[in-house]
Amino acid sequence: MFESYLNFDIEAALFLTLLWGTTAVLVARRPHHRSDRRGRRRATFLLVLVAIGMLLVAGRITTTLLMGSFGYLFVADRVAVALPLVILPALAVLVLSVPRWRAHRREPSAATRLATFAPQAVVPFQATALGALLGFVTAILVTMGPPQLVPILTVYTGYLTVVVLLWLWQAYRFRVASNGGPVRRSLPVRALRAVAVATAFVLVLVGGLSWAAGTTTLPGRINMADHAHGEAYSAAGPHGAHAGRSVSVAELTGPRAETPDRRYTLVAEAKKLRLASGKEVDAWLFNGQSPGPELRVKRGELIEVTVVNKVPDTNVSVHWHGVDVPNAEDGVAGVTQDAIKPGGTHVYRFRPDEVGTHWYHSHQQSSIQVKKGLFGPLIIEPEQTDLAPGTQDVIVAAHTWYDDKLPLEPPTLFGTIDQLERRRMAPGTPVRLRLINTDGATHRYSLTGTPFKVVAIDGNPVNEPTDVRGEQLVIGGGGRYDVEFTMPTQPVRLTELRRYGSELRVVEGGLLLSADGAGDVAPDKPQDAFDPTTYGSPAPTPFGRDSTFTKTHSLVFDNELWFYDGKFGVVWASNGKAFPEAPSITVREGDLVKVRFANRSHFDHPMHLHGHHVLVLSRNGKPATGSPLWLDTVNVEVGEIWEVAFKADNPGLWMDHCHNLDHAAAGMMSHVIYEGVTTPYEVGHDTPNELE
Ligand code: C2O
Ligand code: CU
Repeated sequence: MFESYLNFDIEAALFLTLLWGTTAVLVARRPHHRSDRRGRRRATFLLVLVAIGMLLVAGRITTTLLMGSFGYLFVADRVAVALPLVILPALAVLVLSVPRWRAHRREPSAATRLATFAPQAVVPFQATALGALLGFVTAILVTMGPPQLVPILTVYTGYLTVVVLLWLWQAYRFRVASNGGPVRRSLPVRALRAVAVATAFVLVLVGGLSWAAGTTTLPGRINMADHAHGEAYSAAGPHGAHAGRSVSVAELTGPRAETPDRRYTLVAEAKKLRLASGKEVDAWLFNGQSPGPELRVKRGELIEVTVVNKVPDTNVSVHWHGVDVPNAEDGVAGVTQDAIKPGGTHVYRFRPDEVGTHWYHSHQQSSIQVKKGLFGPLIIEPEQTDLAPGTQDVIVAAHTWYDDKLPLEPPTLFGTIDQLERRRMAPGTPVRLRLINTDGATHRYSLTGTPFKVVAIDGNPVNEPTDVRGEQLVIGGGGRYDVEFTMPTQPVRLTELRRYGSELRVVEGGLLLSADGAGDVAPDKPQDAFDPTTYGSPAPTPFGRDSTFTKTHSLVFDNELWFYDGKFGVVWASNGKAFPEAPSITVREGDLVKVRFANRSHFDHPMHLHGHHVLVLSRNGKPATGSPLWLDTVNVEVGEIWEVAFKADNPGLWMDHCHNLDHAAAGMMSHVIYEGVTTPYEVGHDTPNELE
């Protein structure tokens, strides 16, 4: 629903602009040589346009109200800018202009015609058109997000300046016209003038746009510690120079001296991968397999992973998604390390504390490298296993492969298997499915044939899970769900569902478990989605909705049609800004930070904060009432508002980005920056490091 309202709102903004723009052009024409009949017709036409325009104004007010019913954050900027700038001048049209045009219509004469050329009869139309245009621009081209004083004052100052200038100009034209002039010029002169005006307009437009494109060009080198766009603590700046101590990311390593409990080597290499269907893809894989090798360790063990890069002409890195490692082990090329060059190696060492289903993946140009296969599962088991004896532990890592730019369907659930995967499973066997979404887009699943329990979300165990049936599981990019059930006598089928408008369609492929490996079951298509915020039972948490937060940070996500790094296209903006301007948060160790995500765009945004887990406080205004929901990736669906909180307890420079990595690559990236932390690494075209 939200998305339709959003679309109506943008359309209303566009039509408002076109309609009031037309009236603005009509009223600005000189009242020359018009027969009374034509003058009357023109006035009638204009009044009809005004009536339609007023309906459109009412329409935009309505769409704003409808969007606002999903949360005020969605419309706060519309209320501050787009609406006043169209409602107030439209009222001026009604009060100042319309009476003059109606008078002319009632009694067409030279005098009433001249009156329609007065500033009062003309400028309100132009002001409405300009306001409508600003409303359109801020809805889809350069969006705004939660109202901030400076941008709003800038818009209003610019707007009022233009309106005053228009008024002065029209007053001058009116004076000239009242004095009987100017003489109507000959056709060639008028044509010439029209061409000149059009050329000037095009030049200004093209010049303005190429200037705007230029302002979005990413610098060749960016130091992330310098990109604290959030409010800093003091005038001393975001680095906490006043705090008197600073630490480099490079010093924030895992244990370096001790002997590791487990050692792994991951070799990144380019390989042709043949899918079960026979399709071939050019892949980049760890140790030649997809998914990469399963790393299964116990909580608290010291792990050492040596990554060797054998991909030609490509730098790589590895990030441990879901594990709050020390900053230097985080694997973010250009922030916590330099990317590993071809032929190079890098050693990661950390002691994971977060049990559950996680994964690792490249964090150099990840939008490309993860798609090409540089990822694998990382399972952290508790000291005492949480699996019932005899459990079949199945990793289901959904991944879409690409043939050049085109996604291949269906996605694989098991490495190379892009067909229905049949497995034998003896009735009575406890089954754990570890669903990992390695894609950017949301995956929806139905599990047919048995009730099941969701036992962990993003690796974190659910407190007192209950049976689920008749609900689809919605897993955002990067997210994980662990489900458990006891294998029944009849077959069980895991199926991906895809939404087409309000219709749910079954994606071919999936997983079929049955006693003999045969049989079938028609997949359910449950409409209702499993809600993790109401599932399971509450348990104590170190903080909650009623805690006092050091900082509150609100982010509104939009898709803009604008420039990014000089190229025109879809830009994924947070509060109207794309990386590196997207608002980062500066924190001090010990801070308790509340973050609000509002998704006003046309796509889900799985927001992933590195180095921390966030506790969900509320979803769409409803407090989370189930098991404490600790996430590393918060899938904010279209029209949703999530409130989450995290404790700043892991100093460093941490990425906070959308895990639809294409969105991250087109702007949806920011950071949590600890005061006093610096980095020797840089990111950008002139460095070996490319984010996302
Ligand atoms: Cu799983 Cu910044 O990534
Ligand atoms: Cu996104």
